[in-house]
Amino acid sequence: MNNQPVIIGGGAAGLMAALCLAPQKTVLLCGGSLGGNAASGWAQGGIAAVVGPDDSLDLHIADTISAGAGLCDPATVARMIAGGPWVIETLLKYGANFGRNPDGSLALGLEAAHARRRIVHAKDATGAEVMRVLINAVRATPSITVIEQAVAEHVFVKDNTVQGVQFRVGHDVSIIPTSAVVIATGGVGGLFAHTTNPRTATGAGLALAARAGANLRDIEFMQFHPTALACGLDPMPLISEALRGEGAKFVDTSGKPFMNGNDLAARDIVARAVAAKYAAGEQVFLDARHLTAEKFPAVFAACRANGINPALQPIPVRPAAHYHMGGIAVNAQSESSVHGLFACGEAAATGLHGANRLASNSLLEAMVTGRDAAAAIAARPPRLLSDTPLLVQRPGADNLPMIREICSANLGILRSAAGLSQAIAQLSPLAQTSNAALLATLMAQAALRRTESRGGHSRTDYPRTNPALAQSFSCNIHDVPTMKIAA
Ligand code: SIN
Repeated sequence: MNNQPVIIGGGAAGLMAALCLAPQKTVLLCGGSLGGNAASGWAQGGIAAVVGPDDSLDLHIADTISAGAGLCDPATVARMIAGGPWVIETLLKYGANFGRNPDGSLALGLEAAHARRRIVHAKDATGAEVMRVLINAVRATPSITVIEQAVAEHVFVKDNTVQGVQFRVGHDVSIIPTSAVVIATGGVGGLFAHTTNPRTATGAGLALAARAGANLRDIEFMQFHPTALACGLDPMPLISEALRGEGAKFVDTSGKPFMNGNDLAARDIVARAVAAKYAAGEQVFLDARHLTAEKFPAVFAACRANGINPALQPIPVRPAAHYHMGGIAVNAQSESSVHGLFACGEAAATGLHGANRLASNSLLEAMVTGRDAAAAIAARPPRLLSDTPLLVQRPGADNLPMIREICSANLGILRSAAGLSQAIAQLSPLAQTSNAALLATLMAQAALRRTESRGGHSRTDYPRTNPALAQSFSCNIHDVPTMKIAA
């Protein structure tokens, strides 16, 4: 396996990168079983792509930039959105079974802040369908060596250039010397007590990149989904926005609508409105009684498993951490500030999402960035590696219950200088040994520095958007004052 590209993460981005690298030999490290704990498989809504006759790339670009609240990188948006038709075509080629109209054309769903119906979906289990076909394709590709239950522990870097990766399977620790590492480890929702992400999504890949010296970007921007099923489960099942696309409405405990017809407003606006109800001691429900299990089988199954029949009663919902707009800063080749260290999917910050992601742009980005990382790696002959890295001490265990409590209290939908400063004081002493604490510290620092409200970042002490701050913030490990960094 020496000097083969190593991909860390078995979600849609990692699988697409591995497939696009074939027939080049590649190692794919999966934290669980292949596809097992990847958030991509849980995506309900679908993939936003310009395939409808009334749509255009310009319209999809405009919607993405408008949702991004002034922080999208227009060139990146144009490149990603142009990749939409390729993503759909590629998945269809792999055998994806997307919903169709009676005339055979793709059935397109509507989600918040999209000017057109453009969500290609497989009922409400699109992520599962995408993962099904990508996993089958990976299994049928002999050049990909899949290592399951593998936890990446360290990326070796010399002269700002990747030299290898250390990982552990159970108690066995191994090193693969390599000149290309791709981080595709997903998001950070697991840092919060209420999340739709797998609990393992604590940003370990971002911390790995930060410890390797890579810059992170936009990490203060967290998207909270307004409708997670409020039934006491952790993680919380998602109640897809697609239900509101088909007319479901928010109601309060007395059954009264409270969004004045704006149930499908941008996600941050709706999440704040729902959170305000909870803050006032009320509960919130989604009235979807006109919808059917035929159209939304995954949502109906999750509700029924928790004693709720959406055909007869409104669904109890509350906001939950859902998607991280920020991540490892990458260029158009998906390469970070460390030569040979790539990032794709939710772990990457490309400039597509800005301060707020447009619904269903994430699977699109996962697959385009996976493709682009593969193309960049394939275009370079593997570098000669200078010396063989030696095993290093891995970071310690994360005290997740405590970190989740701190993040939920201080880095949630509403933030303030006092809360963020408290989070930094509590978390930064743990950052040396805990990946989750390191990342949460960097997020809180970035949120403290952003003295305004914009997109997914809302400050009670700075409730307005400040046009002078319409730029991305970048940060790195040197920003954590408590870190001791080896020379
Ligand atoms: C949803 O189905 O509501 C989620 C879609 C997304 O997060 O893009």
